[in-house]
Amino acid sequence: MSTSAVLSPKTNVSHSNTTGQDKQRLPIVEPWLVTADELADCSFYHTLDLPGIGMVPGCWDLRDTIDDYFGGHNFKGQTVLELGTASGFCAFHMAKQGAKVTGCDLPEGRMFNTVPYATMGAARLEELRVGYDVYIDRMKRGFWLSQRLLGLPVDMMYLQITDLKNIDVMFDTVVTAQTLVHMMNPIEAFFCLAAKAKETLIFVERPATHLGDTVPYAMFYPDAGTEQPNSSWWCFSVPMIRQLFAIAGFEIVLEADSRHLCNTMDPKVENPMALMRTFIGKRKSSPIL
Ligand SMILES: C[S@@+](CC[C@H](N)C(=O)[O-])C[C@H]1O[C@@H](n2cnc3c(N)ncnc32)[C@H](O)[C@@H]1O
Repeated sequence: MSTSAVLSPKTNVSHSNTTGQDKQRLPIVEPWLVTADELADCSFYHTLDLPGIGMVPGCWDLRDTIDDYFGGHNFKGQTVLELGTASGFCAFHMAKQGAKVTGCDLPEGRMFNTVPYATMGAARLEELRVGYDVYIDRMKRGFWLSQRLLGLPVDMMYLQITDLKNIDVMFDTVVTAQTLVHMMNPIEAFFCLAAKAKETLIFVERPATHLGDTVPYAMFYPDAGTEQPNSSWWCFSVPMIRQLFAIAGFEIVLEADSRHLCNTMDPKVENPMALMRTFIGKRKSSPIL
């Protein structure tokens, strides 16, 4: 991973998705003006088809399977909060269906929860942290370039999820996919997020079926012996996810598995179609935080 300096955002094109009071109460960032000439400064987590550029490859190609990724949920007419927007393919899908989408990703400044193995030493840890900052910054550029070329209205907030506690806005639907595993404190994040959902909560993750189907376990990934991984912390058993939904006041109305193209570079991986599980919950009790 590159360790070059994080590029500074370029403003400013006029664009707005949320309106009125909600817009004022949310820390929506000004759109970054990223042009096609700056494609080399962008990274793409998702494969996207961009007008005037063509296909840009990302490690996840959800183009044929995005409906399944969200359990066939129709986002039309809903206000949506998506945590972990990355280069935006999921948010663009919702906006295309007619949702008012507010994405959310990390702010600058060593905010990604890199696993701090002391045995690595401070210099190596700093190198990793800078590397994640650079990658996330490049991914944000990929998002803003795509957003402008696709002409889809998606607003963005760059904040820590716990900061949502101080913002008095709720969304019809709240979505997060493959993001909580990257957090040191995912349970607090889950409840912060769930509290923002008026009606529907959608959670997508690789199902940890190896943890069984009866006990609410979380498995801790980091291993001090190998100093791996450095960007993932937890996987949750399916019963644990069910408990999280129930505690947050949601009844799970859909639980479905689907496969999605993950362009892994690992030659040992025979089937690039990664299994994901989608949980959709409907609110039954008022949120409490
Ligand atoms: C693995 S990608 C998932 C992208 C997308 N949600 C999907 O399912 O295709 C994880 C995303 O979560 C973001 N992320 C990681 N930790 C985060 C945190 N603490 N708060 C907000 N976003 C975070 C990363 O920057 C990245 O955009």
